[in-house]
Amino acid sequence: MPGKKKLLRSQQWFGRDGKMGFIYRSWVKNRGIPHDQFDGRPVIGICNTYSELTPCNSHFRTLAEQVKTGVWEAGGFPLEFPVMSLGETLLRPTAMLFRNLASMDVEESIRGNPIDGVVLLMGCDKTTPSLLMGAASCDLPTIGVSGGPMLSGWYKGQRIGSGTNTWSLSEDLRAGKITKDEYHEAESCMHRSHGHCMTMGTASTMACMVEALGVGLPGNAAYPAVDARRNLLARGAGRRIVEMVKEDVKLSAILTRKAFENAIRVNAAIGGSTNAVIHLIAIARRIGVELDLDDWDQLGRDVHTLVNLMPNGKFLMEDFCYAGGLPAVLRELGENGLLNKRALTANGRTIWQNNKAAENNNAEVIMPFAAPFKRDTGIAVLRGNLCPDGAIIKPSAATPALMQHKGPAVVFEDIDEFHRRIDDPKLKVDENSVLVLKNCGPKGYPGMAEVGNMALPPALLKRGITDMLRISDARMSGTAYGTVVLHVAPEAAAGGPLALVQEGDLVELDVAARKLHLHVSDKELARRRAAWKPPAPAMTRGYTRLYVDHVNQANDGCDLDFLVGKSGAAVARDNH
Ligand code: FES
Repeated sequence: MPGKKKLLRSQQWFGRDGKMGFIYRSWVKNRGIPHDQFDGRPVIGICNTYSELTPCNSHFRTLAEQVKTGVWEAGGFPLEFPVMSLGETLLRPTAMLFRNLASMDVEESIRGNPIDGVVLLMGCDKTTPSLLMGAASCDLPTIGVSGGPMLSGWYKGQRIGSGTNTWSLSEDLRAGKITKDEYHEAESCMHRSHGHCMTMGTASTMACMVEALGVGLPGNAAYPAVDARRNLLARGAGRRIVEMVKEDVKLSAILTRKAFENAIRVNAAIGGSTNAVIHLIAIARRIGVELDLDDWDQLGRDVHTLVNLMPNGKFLMEDFCYAGGLPAVLRELGENGLLNKRALTANGRTIWQNNKAAENNNAEVIMPFAAPFKRDTGIAVLRGNLCPDGAIIKPSAATPALMQHKGPAVVFEDIDEFHRRIDDPKLKVDENSVLVLKNCGPKGYPGMAEVGNMALPPALLKRGITDMLRISDARMSGTAYGTVVLHVAPEAAAGGPLALVQEGDLVELDVAARKLHLHVSDKELARRRAAWKPPAPAMTRGYTRLYVDHVNQANDGCDLDFLVGKSGAAVARDNH
């Protein structure tokens, strides 16, 4: 009927007569909600990953209150709900094992409840992809609000960055360059405010991805967690999501192929985390966008790293914010033909409308495209007989001299063997060796831990060697650096050729040729394969069993095979 207002989804609960209307409304009224809140106004879910076990998200109660205020101001009805929160630093064996579990929690919590639109509060590494994956499978109007980075760490007059300086200080301690007391003092100086890691690690990278994809509002990536503008952003998201529901702008209108192309180029321009490769493929495949490793290799090829941030450079997210943040990077990309300018964003404007006038206030932190921080540094995707389904390397964090390298393998069958042997003075290793680590992939670890940036042998550290070629089926922290080949697929535990590498085999890396080759004959590899036995299953019950039985390999985003795709938001049946 012309002019008839479309009933919102939440009215399938709150707009009902009889017993079901009573049930759906009455219990919500128990904290003093007046009857007029159920009159058909947009109901906004606030998906909160607050947890004291996730220190990076410890300020999310404040952020949620800001979102609520914005929703009220715009005439909506906010309802906050908790979901599984994944803290990178405390959760064992690795938060990545539970990314898909958390995404299931998010998906079912959104779909099963009377929600018309959702604001996702996310910060620590895996909380961002898990929330985006779950929301993508429901496809309601959605805005992402990142928690923001911590203030810069400072120690003895120097910036120290999350993770990046954890690795370097730990190596200094192992090499005897600093004392244990100094090490403990640095520990207190590194993380000194609310917020997530303030290097361009995975959390900052994913916050940039949220902004580049258009799911977040401009400024989402870089305002520090304790900056008043972070609260304003949350409040603005609360206001805007109410409008998005009225305009019926679903997440799929924003998460298009063009948006993912923008995000991949932004990842190269910021020198972003290798973890984004896995997460973006998983998110894309939930919403129904085709995305694979070749897209990462091709789209990132002509992009330079503009941002001089740790782990690749010297500054931190606070500096990035003051320099202009992601808007300044997006403007550089747009002016150099590397942005799909018409991609829609959550505020209803295109990405170019949002960013075309952005200013760069510090060209030492955000360098211009014409004179970039590092040239041609997008994620490189390697192929060869050691990784038939691909492997990746982050050139901006690697040593140029090692980008073409051939050397004998020093092999560790698993992470326990690595820990047992790496400090052994009798370990036969020199700077030309290639450290090869097996059984740390999705099924093998399980959960594909961030152990790919293996610590170097102390004898080499003492000689001043700071990098070696390292290869594994593991991931690496976004805060880490080095010439590290990651995500080898198929992984060793799934019978990939990595499982067949033996001590002393010659391994060749040629990043320019995108090649990773094991110099062992096909005949010999076939002989070794016939003798290979898969490792015993890590777990026989529970979620880990489900995960190991169903997890996809790294090149397919490590989602569970039955979670790929979306089911929308319809639920036909009542609960009573
Ligand atoms: Fe949470 Fe780094 S540990 S973002």
